[in-house]
Amino acid sequence: MAVARVSCRLILLVRRHRLISLKFDYGATFVTGENLLDTLRCPRCHTRLNRRQNSTAHETQDNELVCSQCFERFPIIDDIPRLLLPPLREAILASGTATGIDKQQVNTALSFGFEWTRFPEMYKEWHESFLKYMHPHGPDFFRGKKVLDAGCGNGRFAYYAAKYGAEVWAIDLGPAVEVARRNTEPVGNVQVIQADLYQPPFAFESFDFIYSLGVLHHLPDPESAFQNLLGYLKPGGEIQIYLYWQPEGQPIKRWLLAFVGMARQVTRRLPHAFVYALAFPAAVAAYGFFVWPYRILKRVPGLGKFAEKFPMKQYASFPFRVCVNDQLDRFSAPIENRYTRKEITDWLIRAGLEAIDTKPVFGWVGSGRKPVSASVNR
Ligand SMILES: C[S@@+](CC[C@H](N)C(=O)[O-])C[C@H]1O[C@@H](n2cnc3c(N)ncnc32)[C@H](O)[C@@H]1O
Ligand SMILES: [Zn+2]
Repeated sequence: MAVARVSCRLILLVRRHRLISLKFDYGATFVTGENLLDTLRCPRCHTRLNRRQNSTAHETQDNELVCSQCFERFPIIDDIPRLLLPPLREAILASGTATGIDKQQVNTALSFGFEWTRFPEMYKEWHESFLKYMHPHGPDFFRGKKVLDAGCGNGRFAYYAAKYGAEVWAIDLGPAVEVARRNTEPVGNVQVIQADLYQPPFAFESFDFIYSLGVLHHLPDPESAFQNLLGYLKPGGEIQIYLYWQPEGQPIKRWLLAFVGMARQVTRRLPHAFVYALAFPAAVAAYGFFVWPYRILKRVPGLGKFAEKFPMKQYASFPFRVCVNDQLDRFSAPIENRYTRKEITDWLIRAGLEAIDTKPVFGWVGSGRKPVSASVNR
């Protein structure tokens, strides 16, 4: 009888332990409960968060994080801490029904959520893109670094940063986080968090490297969002951003963009499903006018240089669906800003970064290092 009771208690203990570790493990190999709580902060008052296991937990909301100062509660749904403040959180989770929120921000989150849910694919070509955007940093750079992916979308770049040995914290505002979690789960050391770039829910100076690819130009005040990110970079840490370019001295690209800009005045207000349907013929047109002619002409002796001037030639090295994805992005994103090289360089200078660089990668990749002397005791 006593033996039975002991073994019963043991089984219960093991079960409880398994339950706890399952609930607080978040499916990632490195994010222990401690690491999570050491890194995260309340997006409102920047105080530490505590874990609370929900006694009425059901399948999707397993537990929550609670601010130790303002007592705001943040649910963890499907292993993703949702560190948005209400009413923005309700607006995004309930697909835009709450009041008193920035509608454009909600539309941005939902528009990209729609996009990445339709285009979750992890093409092998993303590896090449990752290396291009991260240059001059190669795979070795990532080993052992604590990295923030600010605006991770479907998680395609967080996947490679983690694969090369980084501990990656990937944030996104909208439902894209669910796609990112699924895509990065196989690689392990990625913690996906639903959060707003304007209020990153992290301890200051947490990261060795921050990158934000194709995100800032979709925000209402991109430079201030960029400056804000620097507070989360360790002194001596590096930041790398990718932004759309404003073509200079390229008349065909300028006309095309002017046309797209006019069309966007209408399309960004249309239902996402409608723009999704339009993205296919738009991609076929892009292939018909530019991608196929580029492929043919670059093989014709003497015409290679001329072919290299073609707009949209970059799609020649990707599957057709990538072009469809980009047309959806182009026509549905509520905000789209474009920059000259000088404007991005000026951002980096105004931010007081060292070793700055702005280089063309079908847009501008700007990078710099936070001076060691720039440590701020906040
Ligand atoms: C064009 S996608 C780029 C995604 C990813 N970086 C990539 O290159 O694949 C822009 C992403 O930024 C996210 N985003 C927009 N505003 C944001 C904000 N305020 N905070 C966090 N993420 C935001 C969108 O939800 C979207 O997934
Ligand atoms: Zn708080």
